[in-house]
Parts: sequence; C-alpha cells; structure tokens
Amino acid sequence: MTLLKVENLSVTDLRNGERILHGLTFSLEPNSCLAIVGESGSGKSMTCKALLQLTNPWLEVKGSVYLHGKEIPKNNPNEMQKIRGKKISMILQDAMTAFDPLYTIGYQIEETLCTNLKMSKKAAQAMGIEAMNRMGIYDAKNVIKKYPHQLSGGMLQRCMIAIAMAIEPDIMIADEPTTALDAINQRDVVEQFELLQRTTGTAILFISHDLGVVQRLAQKVLVMKEGSCVEYGDANQIFRRPQNDYTRYLVETRMALSQPFRKIMDREEVEVVNVKSAECI
Ligand SMILES: Nc1ncnc2c1ncn2[C@@H]1O[C@H](COP(=O)(O)OP(=O)(O)OP(=O)(O)O)[C@@H](O)[C@H]1O
Ligand SMILES: [Mg+2]
Repeated sequence: MTLLKVENLSVTDLRNGERILHGLTFSLEPNSCLAIVGESGSGKSMTCKALLQLTNPWLEVKGSVYLHGKEIPKNNPNEMQKIRGKKISMILQDAMTAFDPLYTIGYQIEETLCTNLKMSKKAAQAMGIEAMNRMGIYDAKNVIKKYPHQLSGGMLQRCMIAIAMAIEPDIMIADEPTTALDAINQRDVVEQFELLQRTTGTAILFISHDLGVVQRLAQKVLVMKEGSCVEYGDANQIFRRPQNDYTRYLVETRMALSQPFRKIMDREEVEVVNVKSAECI
C-alpha cells in the first residue's frame, strides 16, 4: 500500500489571492526515497509545510493527504500532533528555527526522544549522544550543554538530523538537510540517510538543490517550477532522458555544480577525515 499519497495539493495566499502551489499530486512508497527538486522559490518547502499542516493562517491549503490509505483530517491539531514525530518527522531547512533558544540542545533532544519513544530521560540522553556520534559529532557530551546560538548552522543541522534519525520515523521529510554542511560532512550525512533507509525502512521525502545527492538517494523525482510539477517519475529515467525543457536545464546545470560532492562520494577509498565537531562550533 502507498505510504503517503498527496492529491491535488494547492496553496493560495489569501492576502493577495496569489497561488503558491498548483495542485500537486505525488506518492511515496514504503522504504523508498522521493526527491523534490526545483529552483529557489518553486514551492518545495511550502509543499512539505502544507502536507504537515504547518502553514501560516493566511495561507489556504486545499487537497488531500493520505497516510497508510487514510486521509489526514484538516484542522485537527490533535490528530496532526500524533502524526508528527514517530509517523512523520521533518528536518527543517533552517535548523535555527527548529530549536528553542531558551533551552540547551541536550534538553531539547531528551524531550523529543522521551515524547516520541516513551523512554526515560537517561535512556533518551544516551540515545541522543549515540545518534550525534553517528552524525560526526564526537564531542556530543559537550555539545548537549550548549544553547542553539552557541552552535554553528552546520552543527545545528547535524543535531536536528540526529534527533530525527533516532526517532526512526515511518516517513522522514528532509528539507535541504545538508545545505549548511561542507562536501565532506555532506557525504557522511547522505550515508546516514542511506543507512537509515536500509536498516529501518524509513521512507524519505528529500528536498535538495543538489542533483548529485538526489541521484544517489532517490528512486523517484518530482521537479517543481513556479509551484507546479513539471516532471515526475523514475529517477534514472529523469536523469538520463529528461522530458521537460526545464528538467533538462536543471540536470545539465546542477550536475555540473554538484561535481565536488560527487567526487567525494565516488572516491573508492576515502581517507578518514577526522572532523572534529568542535571546529564547527
Ligand atoms: N509564509 C509564507 N507566506 C506567503 N508566501 C510564502 C510563504 N512562505 C513562502 N512563500 C512563497 O511561496 C513560494 C515558494 O516558497 P518556498 O519556500 O516553498 O520555496 P523553495 O522551493 O523551498 O525555495 P528554496 O529553494 O529557496 O528553499 C515563494 O514565492 C515564497 O515567496
Ligand atoms: Mg525551501
């Protein structure tokens, strides 16, 4: 059965009547990765927010979202609360907005894991530290004492991914999860996404500008332009024989841009790069 089905998703800004999303339809199969690509402002983040009902009140969302074949009811915060977390986790594009500035990273990781996995604080802390280690944060015990403003964007992004991965959700929505990272850290993070999918069966909705990363992770691709889907289908097909002019342009230009990343991913024997997380703070 299709895990997540989105039908005719539209968003209109009620303040000026402008349409931001124009009837998107797509689905995510279990244990697979669907990538959404498209230029800045094409509506990738809005698509994720709309399907998770995280849009501002001046935005009117229409369409249907089905999880395990059952429609997610609209305007039902309690139901949505139950879905966010273990069923669908989201890694936000801007890591800073994901954390509360008033609490330490450690406290927020503990809270999230305790709530979603129903575990003790002690177990949550141990699990959080382990997840941070896997994300290349080797001095996690030190990092958990910090407040968000004391950490770099890249470090926050890795903490956020660590939490989402520890939850092992049915669906992970990752909105440009590697933008604040350099190519070497990107490689580690992409490997963690692959591992997550392989070991837990988590399905991933992956948003990225980087077609090198997308080619590595995704089985299906949805290409967006100005709030509409211009191409949707099998990733290999889209990379080899894009049908749409805009997709062809994206593939040609973006693949060139993602060369440094691909070189690193393709290297057979990558020297062990000891990324000390302290350098990123
Ligand atoms: N809260 C909002 N209220 C009204 N319009 C918005 C809001 N957030 C985004 N938009 C508009 O919706 C459109 C799509 O924005 P969105 O953030 O989804 O783009 P994106 O594809 O994620 O871009 P990027 O690659 O830069 O992250 C843009 O025109 C943007 O100005
Ligand atoms: Mg975005």
